[in-house]
Amino acid sequence: MSARTVIAGNWKMNMTPSEAKQFIGELAPMVAGKNACDIVLCVPYVDIPTAVEAARGTNIHIGAENVHFEAKGAFTGEVSTAMLCELGCEYVIIGHSERRQYFGETDTTVNLRTKAALAAGLKVILCLGEVKEQRLAGITDEVVAMQTKLDLADIDEDALKNVIIAYEPVWAIGTGLTATPEQADETCGVIRKTVAEIYSKKAADAMTIQYGGSMNDKNAAELLAKKNVNGGLIGGASLVPEKFTAIVDAANA
Ligand code: PGA
Repeated sequence: MSARTVIAGNWKMNMTPSEAKQFIGELAPMVAGKNACDIVLCVPYVDIPTAVEAARGTNIHIGAENVHFEAKGAFTGEVSTAMLCELGCEYVIIGHSERRQYFGETDTTVNLRTKAALAAGLKVILCLGEVKEQRLAGITDEVVAMQTKLDLADIDEDALKNVIIAYEPVWAIGTGLTATPEQADETCGVIRKTVAEIYSKKAADAMTIQYGGSMNDKNAAELLAKKNVNGGLIGGASLVPEKFTAIVDAANA
């Protein structure tokens, strides 16, 4: 089975509910019928009800940007898997580098959150990638292999069908610097090889591995043409309907 292409937007801390409604209203007709890829928008928690409603009957799926691993309790400011599921949220980003960098997320908490999300039936977009110093030191392959192993610890092969890995070199996020298509292909390939080692070649071949980091309407086609790149996780360019649509078009070419 070959991997499904998934084009996902990560809105980060952008868009109010009314802006989300307007955006999806504009985007939906632009991406209608473009079904060679799955289309996902991961939005701030407060936008989820509006976004789910606006996306109803379209080919756009809605996700959250994080989720807590405990079912309920004294975790001020956090949101549970049950809360997301009840709203009709289908996907969740876990382990984004901004969570790791600014909010103390570690491979251990990423693993806990991933297990909780999978148990609740959510599809996980698991983010990992090296920082600039690690790439310069020539240890990118070791770093992404280690993150893959730690982040997927104790997760069954069967549950992997609901896991997408987003390879996001931290130095390329929001910086305008993009990994070259060759770099993206190579490192996504290292992640796939690691999944094959932990699980099986079958599981690795079926896994969607996205590239993320300044993917836009100009560079998407080249990146998506690479064998190991099965889609994108898109920040800045996911906030502009025309740019996001151009990336969906590149995945449908
Ligand atoms: P960017 O963000 O496309 O703005 O670089 C990607 C991401 O953080 O997922």
